[in-house]
Amino acid sequence: MKPVYTFTDSDRDSLKESLEFLGASPYEDYEKFSDAIAALIAEGRVPDGLTSACRLIRGQREARVTYAHVISNSPLDSERPVFDQSNPVDDKYLQKRTFVGEGMLELVGRLTGTPLLSYATRNNGDFFHDVYADNRYAGTQTQKTDWELHWHNDRTAHPVRADYLALLGMRCPTKDLVYTKYVDGRELLKYISPRAQELLRRPEFVTPYDELSRDSNKGQRLSEAHAVLENEHSFRYYDTRTEPADRASAAHYEALREFRDALAKCREQYHRIQDGDLLVIANQDGLHSRQMIDIQDAGTTRLRWLLKTYAFRDDATADVHANDWLDGVRGRVRD
Ligand SMILES: [Fe+2]
Repeated sequence: MKPVYTFTDSDRDSLKESLEFLGASPYEDYEKFSDAIAALIAEGRVPDGLTSACRLIRGQREARVTYAHVISNSPLDSERPVFDQSNPVDDKYLQKRTFVGEGMLELVGRLTGTPLLSYATRNNGDFFHDVYADNRYAGTQTQKTDWELHWHNDRTAHPVRADYLALLGMRCPTKDLVYTKYVDGRELLKYISPRAQELLRRPEFVTPYDELSRDSNKGQRLSEAHAVLENEHSFRYYDTRTEPADRASAAHYEALREFRDALAKCREQYHRIQDGDLLVIANQDGLHSRQMIDIQDAGTTRLRWLLKTYAFRDDATADVHANDWLDGVRGRVRD
């Protein structure tokens, strides 16, 4: 994908310097960290190019032009340690001392009017996650896998789901080809008959929770019955996992077959995230996946690291969940 904005090296470096000295850790006090980013904006210390790019992203979403954008050459932390893959999240707390990448993600969340979302039982309630291979989850369909991901949206089985995802390339393979694929829900609808769409809109499907969710919260085994198609073109689906609640219903399997055929026929967008690339995509109004091609250096590609955030569509959507906030921290849901 073509970036909507590429930082100049001087803008990147000046923003990086500002983000290095925020005086707060997003992992110890998210609200203080978020306030420091708000102050940066209020003081006019954000490059005009980034402010304009975020305005453009908002405008294109509102005008329904696209829900997938890339910003490139973003500021990153100078030190990007390799984390112990037996427990990379805990090792990050020990090793990561600057929060430039996190600041960039918080900044874009604020400038695009999409407040961040976190889950109390996922990565200790952190708002900033790592897409990073964890030995315990090798070969799974989770953010900690070392391999491909089927078409899905994030947290399919969970009742509160992000509207947007942001993925920032912190350490990306330069030789092996690892692609993030995205398909707009409107593209999928072209290939699904009205009859199948009507069935997919019924809350008559279920999705089992992934391995990481189940390990973090023993109560999370199977979603409530849900629709696969919601709103105009939102999908709630994890390929190979989502199935009819009534496994004896041929009609529901037929509707799912049409939907899976649509996934094979659709035109998807590919982006190979490189260091400093920020890919922002809709989580529900489209689906995404990961494809790994021509892997010749699996040892290095295993160290691929993306910093990731979940976000609500806008303030009003976040406020709907105000009763779910844990300890009064806006955006942190009890889940
Ligand atoms: Fe995902």
